Amino acid sequence: MKYAKSIALVAALGATTLVVSCGGETEQAGIEPKVFTDSLFAVMKSDRTNYTKLIVQRLGPNKGAFIKPDEHWEDLDQGAPLPAQMFRYGAEGVAEITDEFTYSLQSLWPVNKQNAPKTPIEKEGLEFIKDNPGQNFYGQEKLGDVNYFTAVYADVAVSPACTSCHNEHKDSPRTDFKIGEVMGGVVIRVPVGN
Ligand code: HEC
Repeated sequence: MKYAKSIALVAALGATTLVVSCGGETEQAGIEPKVFTDSLFAVMKSDRTNYTKLIVQRLGPNKGAFIKPDEHWEDLDQGAPLPAQMFRYGAEGVAEITDEFTYSLQSLWPVNKQNAPKTPIEKEGLEFIKDNPGQNFYGQEKLGDVNYFTAVYADVAVSPACTSCHNEHKDSPRTDFKIGEVMGGVVIRVPVGN
């Protein structure tokens, strides 16, 4: 097999997809942004669910637990970070390691207003995953001079700890979340070729 003829970057999907072509043959040598973000989300979702089910739910405030999950955990002698805080610490740590992607946890009904969508695509994505349970959202947006592939994945109430804490939180705009419902979304943004 010869691959001498041409190596082209596909502008539509950006630098993460490298296409090597030879006559009529085309080979994918890179990873598509969608496969990249789907894979990242699988890791994020698994870690987030495990932390909630294996740690937060078991430490729950009603069980006389010694260590309590609390958003002000740093001020307490025995506090543990909330799932959303663990998620943000992860995103901050990743941002120190790579600029190949960024991610955040957002919602149309945020406890913390800073977690509301900021760009039109984020808002569109959060609306889409709310209206289409089980589906992901994929879009493109230009911020400054950079084009981005932006994916939005549903963040679902996987444990009673999710719904009870949000429904009872004084800053929550909603008090009727139910198990299995979409509570928000994970936004993953990947810079692609210009
Ligand atoms: C003990 C309370 C508590 C638990 C348990 C909890 N949350 Fe939250 N959640 C919060 C608080 C407080 C924030 C805001 C944190 C911040 O950004 O400072 C938040 C943030 C979020 C956000 C981002 C938007 C917003 O509301 O600010 C989503 C989405 C979310 N939580 C969903 C979930 C899901 C799904 C679960 C279960 C897997 C869960 N939460 C468990 C209290 C909780």
